[in-house]
Amino acid sequence: MCGIVGYVGHQQATPILIGGLRRLEYRGYDSAGVAVANNGNETRVIRCRGKLAALEALLEQEKPLGTCGIGHTRWATHGRPSDENAHPHKVGSVAVVHNGIIENHVGLRVRLRAAGRTFSSQTDTEIVAHLIDEALLEGAPSFIDAVRKALRQIEGAYALVVLSDLYPDQIIGAKNSSPLVIGLGKNEAFLASDAPAILEHTREVIFLEDGDIVELSRKDVRVSDVDGKPLSRAPRTITWTAAQAEKAGYPHFMLKEIFEQPRAVTDTLRGRLLVDKNDAVLDGLDLGSGIDRVVLIACGTSYHAGLVGKFLIEASARLPCEVDLASEFRYREPVITGRDLVVGISQSGETADTLAALKEAKSRGARTLAICNVVDAAIARAADAALYTHAGPEIGVASTKCFTAQLAALTLLSIHLGRRTGRLSEDAAADFIRELLLIPNKMTVALESMGEISKIAERYKNAKDFLFLGRGTNYPIALEGALKLKEISYIHAEGYAAGEMKHGPIALIDDGIPVVVIAPRGKGYEKVLSNLAEVRARDGHVIAVATVGDKTIAEQCHSVLWIPDAPALLQPLLTVLPLQMLSYCVALARGNDVDQPRNLAKSVTVE
Ligand code: F6R
Repeated sequence: MCGIVGYVGHQQATPILIGGLRRLEYRGYDSAGVAVANNGNETRVIRCRGKLAALEALLEQEKPLGTCGIGHTRWATHGRPSDENAHPHKVGSVAVVHNGIIENHVGLRVRLRAAGRTFSSQTDTEIVAHLIDEALLEGAPSFIDAVRKALRQIEGAYALVVLSDLYPDQIIGAKNSSPLVIGLGKNEAFLASDAPAILEHTREVIFLEDGDIVELSRKDVRVSDVDGKPLSRAPRTITWTAAQAEKAGYPHFMLKEIFEQPRAVTDTLRGRLLVDKNDAVLDGLDLGSGIDRVVLIACGTSYHAGLVGKFLIEASARLPCEVDLASEFRYREPVITGRDLVVGISQSGETADTLAALKEAKSRGARTLAICNVVDAAIARAADAALYTHAGPEIGVASTKCFTAQLAALTLLSIHLGRRTGRLSEDAAADFIRELLLIPNKMTVALESMGEISKIAERYKNAKDFLFLGRGTNYPIALEGALKLKEISYIHAEGYAAGEMKHGPIALIDDGIPVVVIAPRGKGYEKVLSNLAEVRARDGHVIAVATVGDKTIAEQCHSVLWIPDAPALLQPLLTVLPLQMLSYCVALARGNDVDQPRNLAKSVTVE
């Protein structure tokens, strides 16, 4: 999830690009750059690792002149944050900025290398610049024809903005699965990932659709498809403020990130599921042989993802799997051998406890893997290998989209291990992958049917305690639901394995305690129903998370939050959604600061 901007018009491009990037920095901040075309002279590219401030310092020394340019603020997905991997990427006459993931970049790189091309970065984006340059050198009749030829060869998600020394008054944009918006001005036009980047210049915008290609010049904005067929796209007038637009119209980053989860999961799976081979590939890693056990270590929400990971890995790979709190791991004498795969799970990649635990495991001879959302973060560097989640930057302090992206990554890992160990049959893998691919749409359905939650939140906002109950794969979700509520509503909440209730917590139940029971249909359903009846018998108020259409549950509860049906191993990707929303709505009803709750930090870099 990067931020991109483009400008063509009558003003100097550089200050407009930098102003736009400033408003997009929330989309990525590990490197930044601009390319500015200079009236037939060679396009200047200035880019560097670090936040936008580092680029601005460079531009103090040499401001590129020109009225046509493109800019980028990066959130690394392929290739570590570095000067060479910063965008724009320039090859021959062509400069490109890109947001997204080119899925077939490995094959294209091989082909381009064989054709004598050399690469100066590890990014998938540089390949696009090569393809367009190649098409121009092969005699494409126009700039847009060259871009079209390149697009026909790439698969994946992209918002691309391209310029060429040969066409200094033109920029071209293309969209597939990543956002791109055109801003319409007088004798000028803009392109950006998000409207806030251009709102100070214009409120007339066109939101491009997947498959659209746009050609921008001072005088003209033309949208067409990859075959050159002209398309008509109606302009809209934006009424949001820039701050609202940064959150895509949502009042808080947390809410925006909750709704981004289908995209975060899709992007994390992207290019890693081999449907025809019933397998999962992990960015070139080959794990499985020589591994007798998997140990997952993490903190907080990431630890809860690990608890779900145990179910996935044990079911698919039939390998013993342990889950450890990173903050506890080092302070006993963990038994770790060279046949263990130790996986550190971390959104930030900077959590001090997880980093130290991973180093400890490595010093004891384990093979180590990081599942991490920030490319090249400390934990990814400390591990032997990294499997990145592609959730994009998470700004809300309470983790939401990174949790479900971690679940997606762990699901991939479990398939990969299962196939390598031979314990996941091809047929079982095929069924599982088929169900997994349905999940992002089911997440969207679940998110769209949450109208009742704000009423439920209003009703229980003054409760002193909440109990969350779940079984099997939904026990970690009970823990996560309780953690989310504690963090942002400041209400005491406990997550419990539903079967454990009778061993203690049942003493708490009376008519003042709301009990959230996670009870989707499937394994353990009947047993959870019995636990629910035990709560009802003691006058507890039950809010159930249940499979859509389950009338039995509806008759027994005060409120129900519906989710689509899914196999038990994949249910956590759905059952967590209403719980995130519930905590959000309760915090809102209590007037709390949702995005920056008291006493918490996004990265915990102290022990
Ligand atoms: C909860 C939350 C924290 C983090 C924990 C680990 O919403 O955000 O519990 O999950 O601090 O952080 P990472 O995943 O960055 O290692």
